[in-house]
Amino acid sequence: MNVTQEELEALVAECGPYTVQGQVATYIPELAKVDGGLLGIAVCNSDGTFVSAGDAETLFTVQSVSKIITLAFVLETFGEDYVFSRVGMEPTGDAFNSIAKLEETVPTKPLNPMINAGALAVTSMLPGDGAEDKFDRLRGFIADLLDIEVEMVRFDPEVARSEYETTDLNRALLYFMRHHGVIEGDVEEIIDVYTKQCAILTNCRGLAMMGKILSQSGKTPAGRQVISRRNARIIRAIMTTCGMYDASGEFAVQVGLPGKSGVSGAIVACGRSDYDMGEIGIGVFGPALDMKGNSIAGTKMLELLVQRHP
Ligand code: DON
Repeated sequence: MNVTQEELEALVAECGPYTVQGQVATYIPELAKVDGGLLGIAVCNSDGTFVSAGDAETLFTVQSVSKIITLAFVLETFGEDYVFSRVGMEPTGDAFNSIAKLEETVPTKPLNPMINAGALAVTSMLPGDGAEDKFDRLRGFIADLLDIEVEMVRFDPEVARSEYETTDLNRALLYFMRHHGVIEGDVEEIIDVYTKQCAILTNCRGLAMMGKILSQSGKTPAGRQVISRRNARIIRAIMTTCGMYDASGEFAVQVGLPGKSGVSGAIVACGRSDYDMGEIGIGVFGPALDMKGNSIAGTKMLELLVQRHP
């Protein structure tokens, strides 16, 4: 299936008005400065061509979309048995930063790699020696996926610092998990890497490329296998069940594609022939969020796009 530029332009025009119903994230002070009226979409089509509309070239930080990249990296590096011995694969139905289920689950294990507790556990597994080396290796992994120079994988130091200075809840999750033996190592080092991975800069096209690789079972548009078929399937499954947090069920009904959101307003979605969409990758940016932290107009665009390709 190939989506046209005109279709995407119509979606942006139609869904633009929804942006006023949402609010930009403010709990990371730097994110509060972003214009909530922005809206963009890019698609990497079945034939590998890119189409985009609206603010598709605007750079933003990936935030929680980074969780699928770190998950891919640790799965590729250590294998699924090791990764899932430390983090579960069940949805929570709780907010992304909730601590509630961590205390209820005995023995303690974060329920899935998309909520903050699980994602922090995944970050603690990244290979490398110290925060700088770990983050550099993650950048190298991303550069390999996207077939670009590692220098092109950049992060926004202001956003990273802003979150580093304010992220006591994530610190609390890490201390709790270290107490219970779920993670090892230095909490500040994990927070340093995590806040930088969340602040990695991309645009809708970068997200669409990520979606495309996952929808093509780990292959780039040029046919290079960069993530194993099995790991791509695991990541798509976890996106479907947990990618939109406590809105994952509603997203599955209304959109029906594996998706992953970030509080910057980013969403990656993967079309697949088993979802009648062909192997396409979709990247959305709309920083005005709904109550659950997902892009309000971005989700609407995905809903309409899927409806128009029944
Ligand atoms: O841990 C945090 O709070 C953020 N850096 C990422 C959270 C996020 O994007 C949740 N997504 N909707």
